[in-house]
Amino acid sequence: MAQHSSFLEVAWLLIRGELPSQEELDGFRDEVTYHTMLHEDYGRFIGALPKNAHPMPVSAAAVGALATFYQEPETAEHVQRSIVRLIAKMPTIAAQSFKHSIGQPAIYPRNDLPYCSNFLHMMFATPCEEFEVDPVVARAVDLLLILHADHEQNCSTSTVRMVGSSMANLFASISSGISALWGELHGGANQRVIEMLEQIRTEEGSADVFLQKAKDRGDTTRLMGFGHRVYKNYDPRAAILKKECRTIIERLGGSSELLDIAMRLEEIALGDSYFIERNLYPNVDFYSGVIFKAIGFPTNMFTVLFTLGRLPGWIAQWCEMRADPSFRIARPRQVYTGATKRSYPKKR
Ligand code: SDX
Repeated sequence: MAQHSSFLEVAWLLIRGELPSQEELDGFRDEVTYHTMLHEDYGRFIGALPKNAHPMPVSAAAVGALATFYQEPETAEHVQRSIVRLIAKMPTIAAQSFKHSIGQPAIYPRNDLPYCSNFLHMMFATPCEEFEVDPVVARAVDLLLILHADHEQNCSTSTVRMVGSSMANLFASISSGISALWGELHGGANQRVIEMLEQIRTEEGSADVFLQKAKDRGDTTRLMGFGHRVYKNYDPRAAILKKECRTIIERLGGSSELLDIAMRLEEIALGDSYFIERNLYPNVDFYSGVIFKAIGFPTNMFTVLFTLGRLPGWIAQWCEMRADPSFRIARPRQVYTGATKRSYPKKR
């Protein structure tokens, strides 16, 4: 899919279970295009939030607020419209939260631009001059979104299913998934990887010094972007992203310093018994931030980009859970290991 498909085609495949025909894909693209605008009151909503707010809680709040703008009863038709609205408006919400944070006016979506180009235009254009989107960069963003699109029962996806199992609507369920993804052990790792690489570039001076700290159980330092709850081998997404880093950096002429540090870390770690014994390999977050940074996204937007990618996966999993004939509210049990029966002391 990463080589041959597009993000909207992958979104359709995840949600419908089959690749769309050309006619279905064209219709889906048009539907998404004509739902990219936000209600004008969103400007006041996002504008009321602190400029220095992290864009992940802004995104979680803005997606949750979709349930206030669209209050139709949850029929099958309304769910389908909500799916289109989410996929269409998430890039607009992301770009508007970024523009708010830098004190620039929001850039409206354009109906003449394809999905990723439209997002890049909303992110980096200003009202003062024409902004041409580089098709190579737009294709890189499309690839990144595809690679993040779904990943079984990861923390945020399980959260979306858990919240949706109470019959909470799709917007509320997705908003909870955004909050879960923000954590640095999950989607927030891509931001922490760049912060780690920049720390090594300025403070640590060498990858070796940093890795010693990451291996020290007395030190909370971790090699961010390494390790995985399920993958105990090289994350196949990381392999594709590692190749894409070089292409993008060469195209944009940016510094490859951070990529060089990341590749040095990987080279040392993959030969080190600590990481080998624990099956710790690069995961999807290890190289994604290098590409995001080369394109010009601010570091705190990286997990919002993960959100854009994971959105169709969350939606597909929510729909699958709701369509399951044995669907019931999630209710994990727990084994009580606390104190046994005790009397209530008379004198209090
Ligand atoms: C994502 O689930 C998904 O599919 C998630 C995801 C998706 O697409 O949705 O793939 C996206 O979230 C990727 C993961 C991004 N997170 C990070 O890169 C953060 C750094 N990684 C670690 O925090 C950790 O590896 C986890 C959280 C990802 C996985 O944790 P586990 O499986 O619970 O591993 P663990 O904590 O049990 O660690 C096992 C051992 C421990 O050492 P010992 O106690 O055995 O001595 O490995 C060590 C850990 O200290 N370890 C690390 C490490 N990760 C684990 N040591 C140094 N650096 C690391 N990154």
